[in-house]
Amino acid sequence: MSSFVEVTDHGGHTRVLTINRPDALNALNHDVIRALHAALQQAEAAGVQHLVVTGAGTKAFVAGADIAAMSKMDRAEATQFARWGQRVLHLLTLYPGVTIAAVNGYALGGGMELAMGCDLILAAPNAVFGQPEVNLGVIPGFGGTQRLRRRVGPQRARELILTGRNVKAEEAVTLGLALRVVSLDEGSVLDGALKLCDTLGRKGPQAVRWAKKACALAEELDLEVGLQEEAAFFGACFETVDQTEGMAAFLEKRKPVFVGQ
Ligand code: CAA
Repeated sequence: MSSFVEVTDHGGHTRVLTINRPDALNALNHDVIRALHAALQQAEAAGVQHLVVTGAGTKAFVAGADIAAMSKMDRAEATQFARWGQRVLHLLTLYPGVTIAAVNGYALGGGMELAMGCDLILAAPNAVFGQPEVNLGVIPGFGGTQRLRRRVGPQRARELILTGRNVKAEEAVTLGLALRVVSLDEGSVLDGALKLCDTLGRKGPQAVRWAKKACALAEELDLEVGLQEEAAFFGACFETVDQTEGMAAFLEKRKPVFVGQ
């Protein structure tokens, strides 16, 4: 695995992907995006349940797509770069298990888009979010114009994208962009994400996957179709060992032992 994305496993169910280019505040160039793509494919092939994405160092999660690299692109290259970044973030969005962004500093441009590719966003007290692309004479290219409105609503998304205004951690929570700020006395934001993964690790793994899928469909489908899908997933749970175990454990007043089948 390329050192542009460091891979560390925790607790048998969680993998941490650390974007590792601290000299450039973890900016996303082709090498980093390629490494992220490979890391996502490998995690899925290995059946890793939960993923945490974070940035190396204390200053930045990811400060955006690489401006030096983009400054040399022409129209076709820029379009291709955007499509490539979008594809990799889409793969992250489709990851079967839960994905958490542990935002430890700047999450700007492509960095904020990377965070929004995750199911949940936890913020360190020094986290700063923003889509500052208009300051560079461009627009978000890794999904920001499409995904931000799903998090914060159409008007606020327009404001943030059109003005390029940065948002600090507490405001990101108020807007619904981040789930919560992990305070310093709780440890690092990565500690907070791992603790959340431990909680998720005690739930029925199949159920968590189907619940994630159903929640994602709620953002795409109309209510009636979404409800049909929910009922189908609910029914599918009843063919799993974990459903039998989860309900038996409740009735026998003991903790369930889930096997993920
Ligand atoms: N691309 C390439 N290099 C970057 C970078 C980026 N997005 N962000 C930071 N760096 C580099 C800097 O050039 C600098 O390198 P040198 O030490 O070699 O000069 C190093 O990281 C440290 O950065 P600063 O000295 O600027 O650190 P700072 O603390 O003064 O400022 C910052 C931090 C506010 C995050 C500032 O670096 C910044 O504004 N970065 C750019 C943020 C941005 O505009 N991101 C959006 C990019 S466009 C995009 O992402 C499009 C898309 O949707 C696909």
